[in-house]
Amino acid sequence: MDSLHRLMSIWQQFLNFIEGDTPTAAIDTVTETILTDVIAENASISVGYGENVSTILYPQTNSRFREVEVSARDQAAGDLFVQVCSNDFRSAWEIVRTLTALSIGRAEPRFTHFGSVDSRQAGPAPRNTFGFHDGITDAAGGAITPPDHDLRMEFDRPASGSLGGTFMIFRQLRLAVERWDTESLSRQEQIIGRSKATGVPLKGVHDSHVALMSSAATRILRRPYSYTYGPIPNGGIDAGMLFIAYAGRPNSLVKLAELALSSDPVARYVHDIDGGLYFFPDRPWDQ
Ligand code: HEM
Repeated sequence: MDSLHRLMSIWQQFLNFIEGDTPTAAIDTVTETILTDVIAENASISVGYGENVSTILYPQTNSRFREVEVSARDQAAGDLFVQVCSNDFRSAWEIVRTLTALSIGRAEPRFTHFGSVDSRQAGPAPRNTFGFHDGITDAAGGAITPPDHDLRMEFDRPASGSLGGTFMIFRQLRLAVERWDTESLSRQEQIIGRSKATGVPLKGVHDSHVALMSSAATRILRRPYSYTYGPIPNGGIDAGMLFIAYAGRPNSLVKLAELALSSDPVARYVHDIDGGLYFFPDRPWDQ
């Protein structure tokens, strides 16, 4: 926990600096050269904790993590997940590289992914990696409003009063875009269960991705990002979806992902690379 405290403390000093504070001695190695002017005002940083850390900082989350089968708990996934969002790539990158630089000697960063959301604001929702409008049926119009027990967990903390948070599943899903792009339009629409042009549900299709997912009757908030890292050696494209979704119970997320990645018609185009489960509290753990 000491190393976590040291990491959080240095990251907090960096955040204070970009919000206008004088840099502390501990971070002056990066603050001299960082391009603070490229960091967008609406950039956001969220920190989630893996099971091992979460159950120490927030013992209340222990029982929820334990509802998930051991084999699905991604023990190798790491202790922290940091999500940096910005409407400008350079802004996000400046934050990511600085947080990573400041973590050296305090943590072992395992991966960084860059994903994007279609920002053209055309049609009912952004288009995802397969070109379909995605987000039409998102819970609460894309926000988690407390109290919402499907999407949040609420509990009291003796020192700081009531607190809550949400569980998040992350999966890197490589998608066979080269194969998908050769499917006919009607085949693609049958698989997803919506019109590609308008996002309107197809009538009478009961075995599509959307039909299967909605029949599972589990409420989650989905926030997928598209990525591409270029060609892969044996042919094909390393492209796909950084699947991120939130719910009040991690088990709901795992069960739904297992369904989508096994008996779902879209699963034939998905290669599940890696992922993890995290708890995202409303506030930093020491506040
Ligand atoms: C872990 C894997 C996945 C899970 C758990 C998942 C879950 C869901 C859920 C819960 C819905 C909402 C269904 C409803 O009630 O209308 C949905 C919709 C959708 N999903 Fe997935 N999905 C997954 C992977 C994918 C992939 C790989 C694609 C294709 C690239 C995809 C494309 C879509 C589309 C286009 C919709 C319709 C979105 C909308 O209603 O706006 N999903 N998915």
